[in-house]
Amino acid sequence: MNRRYRKTIIAGNWKMNKTATEGKVLLDEIKASVGKAKWCEIVACVPAVDIPMAVKALKDSRIAVGAQNLHYEPSGAYTGEISASMLKDLGVKYVIIGHSERRQYFGETDVTVNKKVHAALEAGLHPIVCVGESLEQREMGITNDLISVQVKSAICGVPADKIRRIVFAYEPIWAIGTGKTATSEQANEVCEHIRTIIRKQFGARTARAVTIQYGGSMNAKNAHDLLAQPDVDGGLIGGASLKSADFVTIVNAANQE
Ligand code: PGA
Repeated sequence: MNRRYRKTIIAGNWKMNKTATEGKVLLDEIKASVGKAKWCEIVACVPAVDIPMAVKALKDSRIAVGAQNLHYEPSGAYTGEISASMLKDLGVKYVIIGHSERRQYFGETDVTVNKKVHAALEAGLHPIVCVGESLEQREMGITNDLISVQVKSAICGVPADKIRRIVFAYEPIWAIGTGKTATSEQANEVCEHIRTIIRKQFGARTARAVTIQYGGSMNAKNAHDLLAQPDVDGGLIGGASLKSADFVTIVNAANQE
């Protein structure tokens, strides 16, 4: 973390978990325990149908609401889809784009990720852009090359003044939901690589202002070490965001002086 130059952001990614009724209980618990966390931004990325409940439950709290996906067209005949302006209208602040599960199960590509980033920015949302390599790709030694392609294509055509509104999340696929966490050094290495890509394209000031999270089995035990790394500016938390005590412990780790 480097709070001097950029925001630390701890975001929970609930994935397809929690009905609105169950989610309300979880948010009430989190809200009650994170009162003093003032050094980091906290986000709950809830299922789309839970959004109205979450916005209401988190009104007057320090916790922002995020979505997990959006469609890139502003409106039209796209049965089952949700546009950026619909999310914005509900009070959503962040939206996860290009999560590896969406790339793997729902045909999301670097091209659709780029379109979604533009749509989110256009509507005034903050995209959380996920990038990451598979185990095979890591073993082939092409992690950095792959991350470069994912990052560069995600931000293709985004004007310099909007880059700071994007949050990047480095999520190695082999660490997601597996209990296998990247070492703090591995996490930092790739987060630093992402910052270097931004620096080369947009300069040092922009690069140092961009928040880059780590995600992949981040939990109450390893969060402190991961967040102590200079280029790891927060976490995108799956499993551990579904338990209020674990999530709050991670928020507190991000809140260390
Ligand atoms: P995990 O998920 O923390 O359960 O590994 C992270 C994510 O997919 O964003």
